[in-house]
Amino acid sequence: MTSSKQQRLDQIKADIVAKHICPDLAKTATQLVFGDGNPDADIVFIGEAPGKNEDLQGKPFVGAAGKFLDEMLQSINLERTDVYITNIVKYRPPNNRDPLPEEKDAFLPYLEEQLAVIQPKLVVTLGRHSMNCFLPQLQISAVHGQPKWFKGQVYLPLFHPAAALYNGGLRATLLEDFANIPTILTQIEH
Ligand code: URA
Repeated sequence: MTSSKQQRLDQIKADIVAKHICPDLAKTATQLVFGDGNPDADIVFIGEAPGKNEDLQGKPFVGAAGKFLDEMLQSINLERTDVYITNIVKYRPPNNRDPLPEEKDAFLPYLEEQLAVIQPKLVVTLGRHSMNCFLPQLQISAVHGQPKWFKGQVYLPLFHPAAALYNGGLRATLLEDFANIPTILTQIEH
């Protein structure tokens, strides 16, 4: 019997725990923050790592940046339950420091497995850490809002919503980039 997408995602989550990925982060974190949303989604959003609220609630993007992400989703008539949301690094780094290169490397195979299960039309990377995992050479200030085709997958690099919280210009840019998502989706053959 073939297992459902949700069962396969649950297995990936269990593997991260069983294989003791980033044990130092696991020790200081409250829990693993694996992902949230619809396993059949056309769009997957990928952030950097859980913050304080995410660590406490076990879900990605539930703090201030998440509230802005929800608003942007609503601006294109989407709910969180229509998309899938995750991070590169699945445990909160202490004091919200940037994830280390070795931490991103350790979690990348599991993120790739998540994407292989969900098979989204579009992967939206939030912030430069997330973009550079898939598109290492690019500068976010130069390419934000431009869809990039790479190895059979379409990526849309966007600024991180947290960076836009206290920067009105960036907020407007992010909303404009978001507004193009429906058109970009229609241009993707699947
Ligand atoms: N920032 C991220 O990159 N991810 C979250 O889950 C929350 C804030």
